[in-house]
Amino acid sequence: MSENATHRPVAHMAGSDIDISQADGVQVVRFNRIDKKNAFSRPMYAAMVAALDHAEASADIAVTVFFGAAGAFSAGNDMSDFAARAQGKVIADQPGSVSAAVLIRKLPTTTKPMIAAVDGLAVGVGVTMLLHCDLVYASPNASFSTPFVNLGLTPEAASSLIGPQRLSYVRAFELLVMGEKWSAEQAHQAGLVNAVVPSSELEAKAMKAARVLAAKPRAALIESRRLLKGDPAPVLAMMETETAAYTRLLPSPEAREAFASFLEKRAPDFAKARAAIKKA
Ligand code: COA
Repeated sequence: MSENATHRPVAHMAGSDIDISQADGVQVVRFNRIDKKNAFSRPMYAAMVAALDHAEASADIAVTVFFGAAGAFSAGNDMSDFAARAQGKVIADQPGSVSAAVLIRKLPTTTKPMIAAVDGLAVGVGVTMLLHCDLVYASPNASFSTPFVNLGLTPEAASSLIGPQRLSYVRAFELLVMGEKWSAEQAHQAGLVNAVVPSSELEAKAMKAARVLAAKPRAALIESRRLLKGDPAPVLAMMETETAAYTRLLPSPEAREAFASFLEKRAPDFAKARAAIKKA
């Protein structure tokens, strides 16, 4: 791909707030739900899964690159989806609409490299998906937080396995359990991010890396990545363990209070939620 090649938009996935384009071996998946800080909706998960499936099936694609927007990579899973499920609402996967779990399970079984460029906030699954990417670049505006425990929940996307391995246990605890918000530099020092580059150069940096990878002998690239990633089975097994914990906690009074307080734009009152548990 020449430095000047432009990406042809392939699709704006209807109703999904995701734009997908492809050129010369590189697929770009751009989150485009800016008014909600790129919080991921079910149609967005479906579009991401479709894009990764397309990359797997297409001999024309070597690499997928994830972009958000300036200010927001992703605010994580949509809070109204959490709130609905916490109230016991069963939301079946429909064509064009799947749960976060479907994307999460896709990430460790994808064989082609994934690159992410974070320019702004990354929250929840907007962070844990980065643990499955092969290269991650961030601008100085980037921040990384996973407020799972603050929401009465537990870590997901096998971050409880990959996090300690990649970041060290104490750093993973700080991020995934304490819910500390990391700056781009902290994420870089911890090994979550390859490099911090100015916002104005961020996408070019990610695209350049993608083009370098796309130009390599394809079979050797995929095989080498497979060797580095290792066996996906323990990762998938941890996802099941995490899902069991998360499913137990989702309808808890504390989690429900966390979702309700966000949607009602107020501070959570966990003491009240705990008192309700004691009374019951
Ligand atoms: N789900 C649904 N909507 C979300 C969202 C989410 N995860 N994150 C942000 N939004 C929405 C807000 O409700 C708001 O919508 P509105 O304008 O219709 O009221 C809009 O995006 C802008 O968010 P706002 O909170 O006003 O922006 P901010 O810059 O003050 O704060 C965040 C940004 C991301 C820090 C804050 O929105 C937040 O904490 N979101 C929840 C993140 C989260 O906990 N995700 C799940 C992790 S497991």
